[in-house]
Amino acid sequence: MLCMSSDRPSWAPESIDLDRPNAARVYDYLLGGAANFETDRAFAEKLLEVMPQARSAARLNRAFLRRAVRFCVSEGIGQFLDIGSGVPTAGNVHEIAPDARVLYVDNEPVAVTHSELLLSDNPKASPLLGDLTNPEPVLASQLLDYTQPIALLMVAVLHFIPDEAMPQEAVARFVSALPSGSFVVLSHAVERDSLQGRVEVDRLYETSANPGVRRTPDQIMAFLDGLDLVEPGLVWTPQWRPELPEDVGDHPESSLVMAAVARKP
Ligand SMILES: C[S@@+](CC[C@H](N)C(=O)[O-])C[C@H]1O[C@@H](n2cnc3c(N)ncnc32)[C@H](O)[C@@H]1O
Repeated sequence: MLCMSSDRPSWAPESIDLDRPNAARVYDYLLGGAANFETDRAFAEKLLEVMPQARSAARLNRAFLRRAVRFCVSEGIGQFLDIGSGVPTAGNVHEIAPDARVLYVDNEPVAVTHSELLLSDNPKASPLLGDLTNPEPVLASQLLDYTQPIALLMVAVLHFIPDEAMPQEAVARFVSALPSGSFVVLSHAVERDSLQGRVEVDRLYETSANPGVRRTPDQIMAFLDGLDLVEPGLVWTPQWRPELPEDVGDHPESSLVMAAVARKP
């Protein structure tokens, strides 16, 4: 059932189902944002019951994104294609890299509407309603110059795309459009036997708009085929070039998500 339009805030597009939790809005809630609905908050609270580390995992993922964008800037990157960019929150790419051009792509209308509001007077950054599994309309956008290096960000998004939707092929298509010297930045929820609460989490996500799919490190590495891994390789998010050694903590695996940056030769 859709909410009555009187319950619908002005920033919520008519096309969205307010009664079905959505990954972008659940993540926004976990990070302390306000672009979420009762159904997203209830879902997030249930998630925290079965996987209490989900909130810190979201923050650590976001911190990885910040460090990876800074790294790309230090390597001379002036353009970012951020797919699965989410609802704008603290530390958006255009804030970390204010001189860069940024194309934000998400398939969640609330994320895109919020990005439009935030970026209305920013000529260098644009939001686009698009899908990672459908590269051509994204690549047709005029904002980025595909003759110059680009950082393709796919941070905490590929685990929402099941194998049947052929994410491997879509990623390969995006990478093929990047010139040499470009970077691919990704993070991905990891499958492992010792993960507590995995069955309950899977059951919960089945009720959302984005049933998830965790992948093993080898499966995640396959997204980076043909690219040169940047040190330290595929690691738990807090282990990727931490600002301070103590930021890593004793249990980096409780971040649930592994991350990597790779360079197109
Ligand atoms: C967990 S959030 C990650 C946001 C941001 N990248 C970050 O790491 O802070 C995942 C985002 O991916 C988006 N998403 C899921 N499937 C997608 C798809 N097929 N194409 C584009 N975006 C997608 C969701 O709407 C959500 O905003």
